[in-house]
Amino acid sequence: MLVFAKIKSLQQKIKSLKKGNSIGFVPTMGALHEGHLSLIKQAKKENNIVVVSIFVNPTQFDKKEDLINYPKTIDYDLSLLKSIFCDIVFTPTAEEIYADNIQSQLFDFDGLEYQMEGKFRDGHFNGVGTIVKRLFEIVKPHKAYFGEKDYQQLQIIRKMVEKHLIPVRVIGCDIFREEDGLAMSSRNSRLTKKHRTVVPFIYKTIKYAKKKFGTKNALEVTNWVENEFKHQPLLKLEYFEIADEETLLPVKNKDPKQKSRAFIAVFADKIRLIDNISL
Ligand code: PAF
Repeated sequence: MLVFAKIKSLQQKIKSLKKGNSIGFVPTMGALHEGHLSLIKQAKKENNIVVVSIFVNPTQFDKKEDLINYPKTIDYDLSLLKSIFCDIVFTPTAEEIYADNIQSQLFDFDGLEYQMEGKFRDGHFNGVGTIVKRLFEIVKPHKAYFGEKDYQQLQIIRKMVEKHLIPVRVIGCDIFREEDGLAMSSRNSRLTKKHRTVVPFIYKTIKYAKKKFGTKNALEVTNWVENEFKHQPLLKLEYFEIADEETLLPVKNKDPKQKSRAFIAVFADKIRLIDNISL
């Protein structure tokens, strides 16, 4: 496994390997878990060479505190990547990526950016767009892999690739869950024991909401979810929304011709967790 911190040396290596090889790319912010590994394993199956980046991107954090507290486990991450035979790891510094201008580019994602997460995380998707576009320009992968846990992010990256004519195939991968249903996330490692025992309630509730959406409309299901969370003193619901899978616009009623998803964001103390389920 080769590890590069500099763009130039990474690109030299990729260029020397590219002939006849397909490059699969998994961008990450580190603190790797089984969910990341499943993306990397899928990338390995579908490509000859797999590149993983580890970079905690400052421009996508709307709260400084969240950036500072984001778990950083680089040595562990590298040993994990080695154990699953990852080919290349890119670990740039912020200076290497942004030089002296740590700022987001402004994007138009055709309104996807104003829904759900966009209402609560100011500038987040401009930050994600900026770093993913930059990483795509550096690595020039054939395919790139993203987890469906960050479903809105995935749709936004698809939109960016389409609008900016970036020659990469974006692959969405199923959410990887703990045995008790909690969606895997780097943030889970920051949960207290007490909160860790209650957070499976999030997936349990959206699974039940899925059932209810068969007979009840979106407003009724949303009211039911909001009420359920009122009985959970350790959890604070930020939003629950049923939305169209493509446009992410709110859906009112179940329509067999429309693909919809339920989306949720919850605070467990200061840790913000998101999840979603196809309906
Ligand atoms: O999903 C993430 O971990 C990040 O948003 C990403 C895509 C690596 C960009 O920093």
